[in-house]
Amino acid sequence: MLLQVSDIRKRYVLGGEDIEVLRGVDLTVTSGDFLSIMGTSGSGKSTLLHVLGGLTLPDSGTYLFSDRNMLALTDNELSWIRAHWLGFVFQTFDLLPELDVLGNVSLPFLYNRTDRSDAQRKVNEAIERVGLGHRKKHRPAELSGGEMQRVAIARALAISPKLILADEPTGNLDTRSSLAILELFQELNERGATIVMVTHDSQVAAVSKKIIKMQDGVLLTD
Ligand SMILES: Nc1ncnc2c1ncn2[C@@H]1O[C@H](COP(=O)(O)OP(=O)(O)OP(=O)(O)O)[C@@H](O)[C@H]1O
Ligand SMILES: [Mg+2]
Repeated sequence: MLLQVSDIRKRYVLGGEDIEVLRGVDLTVTSGDFLSIMGTSGSGKSTLLHVLGGLTLPDSGTYLFSDRNMLALTDNELSWIRAHWLGFVFQTFDLLPELDVLGNVSLPFLYNRTDRSDAQRKVNEAIERVGLGHRKKHRPAELSGGEMQRVAIARALAISPKLILADEPTGNLDTRSSLAILELFQELNERGATIVMVTHDSQVAAVSKKIIKMQDGVLLTD
């Protein structure tokens, strides 16, 4: 077992309105899993992914990741876990516009205690792996959408994380670029990466090993 959450709850109070976004989420992910979470807009998928990534603290529930109690860590411990064990791919890519491909993929190593030459090797390997070896000096504005998405994936996998969290990783891409990204995910998974992916596209979800539906803040079990 890589991670286990149980009875995770999260509510937001905004402008007097009380929204319960996560209403008792239970989920177990085993090493080597490739899981898709599907559900309608607003059902809580991104919020759940943020909780799994230690970016959002839930109001209650338990969360064990690699035997750590993720809800009782100090900020430093959480930063360490994010920098060494977790890779994020967001729909908006979140690339820094002033940095080229090499610079963007190197970012996680600012917070990661890998020695410099080792880090450089890993960054270059990750860029090659996503097929962007010929674009290392390009900035985001000089890349296509599919290429930007691949930079975000290279950045996520460069640290060899225990878990890759991907939120609509093909959301803005055409069919061909989407297929290339999904093949890459399958290859990473075959090499041992554990992946949790959010998507509303059933064709995208079909490449994963397991699909779980999210509805009104809970995961439905089959
Ligand atoms: N920081 C916040 N403050 C207030 N409400 C929020 C906040 N973040 C999310 N919400 C609300 O929580 C609900 C779930 O949001 P979430 O982003 O998890 O949905 P989602 O399933 O990822 O949807 P989509 O498929 O559209 O990306 C939404 O109704 C949203 O308005
Ligand atoms: Mg979302």
